[in-house]
Amino acid sequence: MSPKPNLLLRYMTVADLPQVTEIDRLSFEIPWSEKSYRYEINESSQSFMVVLEWNRQQTATRWQRWLKIHPYAEHRIVGYGGMWHIAGEAHISTIAVHPKGRGRGWGEILLAGMVQRGIVLEAEEVALEVRVSNQRAQRLYQKYAFRTVDVKQRYYRNNGEDAYDMRMDIQNSAICTEFEAHYKALFTRHQLIDYFSPYTPPHQK
Ligand SMILES: CC(C)(COP(=O)(O)OP(=O)(O)OC[C@H]1O[C@@H](n2cnc3c(N)ncnc32)[C@H](O)[C@@H]1OP(=O)(O)O)[C@@H](O)C(=O)NCCC(=O)NCCS
Repeated sequence: MSPKPNLLLRYMTVADLPQVTEIDRLSFEIPWSEKSYRYEINESSQSFMVVLEWNRQQTATRWQRWLKIHPYAEHRIVGYGGMWHIAGEAHISTIAVHPKGRGRGWGEILLAGMVQRGIVLEAEEVALEVRVSNQRAQRLYQKYAFRTVDVKQRYYRNNGEDAYDMRMDIQNSAICTEFEAHYKALFTRHQLIDYFSPYTPPHQK
């Protein structure tokens, strides 16, 4: 029997919302409402919502064996993202990793999964906005050949901060070749399965 994957990219469901909204609340100054998530998951024909699930296989300790308590597998949402496909553009609407899980390459998996979805959809480019102060996220996007094309003045309504408009040209064959190498490397580095990027969201079938 092949080992279970450690990490699974899959479409977000309503059952994920308690965990997703908690990560959202811990990650953003303006979290989305639960109603917005429900709309994106169940109704929008342009929306692709993804979660990254971590399977932590627990092996029985000596005490658990003695007490005849069975080991368990813990399935936990460690991050999520969202993308809209509108007029040839794959627009990343959100991406976050639980604060306790950051720095392990999980944000990169979510970003790469959405870029791959954009490629499967034959979008012309992948676009997103990012706070000018959010250098951590900008570094991630730069790693994937996103470039800043514009500054959107006072884009964020909570503090009037500007946003960088960043874009990745997925029609460019050199960029796509480099992306494919990055994406492949993620599968080698992590025990990862992608049930997201090749498939249509259940509500759009
Ligand atoms: C942005 C975010 C999703 C990145 O997720 P993550 O899992 O921590 O990032 P990863 O471990 O996958 O790192 C991937 C790359 O991001 C960059 N990065 C990650 N952490 C960084 C840090 N502390 N400082 C600088 N760059 C960093 C690096 O380029 C890194 O690649 P490298 O490891 O090869 O150097 C995460 O920090 C987050 O949820 N932030 C809060 C929400 C947010 O700001 N979302 C973006 C909105 S536009």
